[in-house]
Amino acid sequence: GHVAAIVPAAGSGERLGAGRPKALVTIAGEVMVARAVEGLLASGVVDDVVVVAPVDHVDEMRAAVRRSVRVVVGGDDRVASVALGLAVVDDADVVLVHDAARCLCPPDVVRAVVAAVREGHGAVIPASPVADTVRRVDPTGRVVGPVDRTGLLAVQTPQGFAADVLRRAHAAAEGSSAAARATDDAGLVEEIGGEVVTVPGDPRGFKITTPLDLAMAEALLGARPG
Ligand code: CTP
Ligand code: MG
Repeated sequence: GHVAAIVPAAGSGERLGAGRPKALVTIAGEVMVARAVEGLLASGVVDDVVVVAPVDHVDEMRAAVRRSVRVVVGGDDRVASVALGLAVVDDADVVLVHDAARCLCPPDVVRAVVAAVREGHGAVIPASPVADTVRRVDPTGRVVGPVDRTGLLAVQTPQGFAADVLRRAHAAAEGSSAAARATDDAGLVEEIGGEVVTVPGDPRGFKITTPLDLAMAEALLGARPG
């Protein structure tokens, strides 16, 4: 069987505020998108990778990754970007979707996700217990109730799918407004009534979103910040 990975990297990185797309920001000398791609390939279970790039930065992304990686133009939101990547994946029976922004995810997690799909699960997500105490609040910020943390997991990527399941989920989401649909691929599978299972996530699979996250990533790699 053939395993393809789609790497959504078409976001602008507003919250990081680096003045260029987040996936092109360097961590200890290597850009995020290259780290994400190499992490996937280091698992030994991924056959090919499609990077989804911002329309204005396709050439830079192409230059940042090894030549066998295809680069396509992304869309207005993450779901649209994944759909554009999926459109060029033809012969895969397993498809992974992995955020460029989770570029320190260890290869073990990639292998575990692929193994679970191969065991027959249509949709697989890495997930970890929520460390913080969680409260639900009203729009003014007043606490309206406790949330039982039991059975709450924070979700990461790579998310793994039987190719036909992911295609059906995206086809069903097509045309619905971004605000109305799920923001991740497993959520789209849930919306078509599909079952989603979890494998253990890893702390290094955190999403680099803010400058603090970037500093943590540099620290993990033993690099001096700046
Ligand atoms: N992404 C994408 N296409 C979009 C929006 C996001 O491919 N239109 C990708 C990002 O490049 C990132 C992943 O989805 O790898 C997760 O999104 P996020 O962390 O929100 O990244 P950005 O949207 O770039 O950041 P921000 O929301 O702070 O602008
Ligand atoms: Mg975003």
